[in-house]
Amino acid sequence: MTKTVVLTGAGVSAESGVPTFRDARGLWEGYQVDEVATPRAFRARPDIVHAFYDARRASLETVEPNPAHVALARLEAGLGDELLLVTQNVDDLHERAGSTGVLHMHGQLRSALCVGCDVRSPWTGPLGDGPDCPACGAPELRPDVVWFGELPYEMDRIFAALDEAELFVSIGTSGAVYPAAGFVQYAAARGARTLELNIEPSEGTHWFHEARHGPASVLVPEWIDRLLG
Ligand code: APR
Repeated sequence: MTKTVVLTGAGVSAESGVPTFRDARGLWEGYQVDEVATPRAFRARPDIVHAFYDARRASLETVEPNPAHVALARLEAGLGDELLLVTQNVDDLHERAGSTGVLHMHGQLRSALCVGCDVRSPWTGPLGDGPDCPACGAPELRPDVVWFGELPYEMDRIFAALDEAELFVSIGTSGAVYPAAGFVQYAAARGARTLELNIEPSEGTHWFHEARHGPASVLVPEWIDRLLG
């Protein structure tokens, strides 16, 4: 039974060198979201969309998990099935820190989704050169990421966990993108205590019972050390 649900966003990976989305010099600063992160953009200009995600996938080779990811892996080791770690991040830094049960609600850069057969394949190289799907052979692979206008993955499992949760913790997310931004209200309405850990107050900070402000690499290990005793 899930007692603790943790939601992470771009802020948890910021100190690893992965750009966030909405900060000054954030990822969306140089791009129009609807040119690279919508199904319509992919239909109109797949070359631009692939170039954007191919570059982000390649950049994962230059970053490492930080103490926040490492602490969250320790939390999983301590709580086992009582923890659900949900991330909006498409990087693999939670896994590289040792977390095994991460729910990637916005998909993953190191995964390709076949538009032809719907099968996902682990993927580390580029997709822009039109490689064949390992499952069906069709050259129809797209980034396995959830674009604006698409439904995030595994929402049923997330809401079922929020129904049971006694504690909901949001780490390094702006609270600007739904449905994730609504998890705090949902969890609180079902009786969970709610805690925000963010470098500054998020857009949804007033929904939380408690908010602590500072870098994730400091706040997250502190919180987990205290929780695990
Ligand atoms: N420690 C803690 N929090 C941080 C740090 C840090 N070192 N650095 C930045 N932050 C906070 C910012 O203050 C901001 O509130 O992390 C948050 C990052 O917000 P966004 O850039 O909006 O990222 P996120 O909330 O994950 O975005 C949600 O939106 O663009 C889509 O699909 C994309 O998954 C993404 C979703």
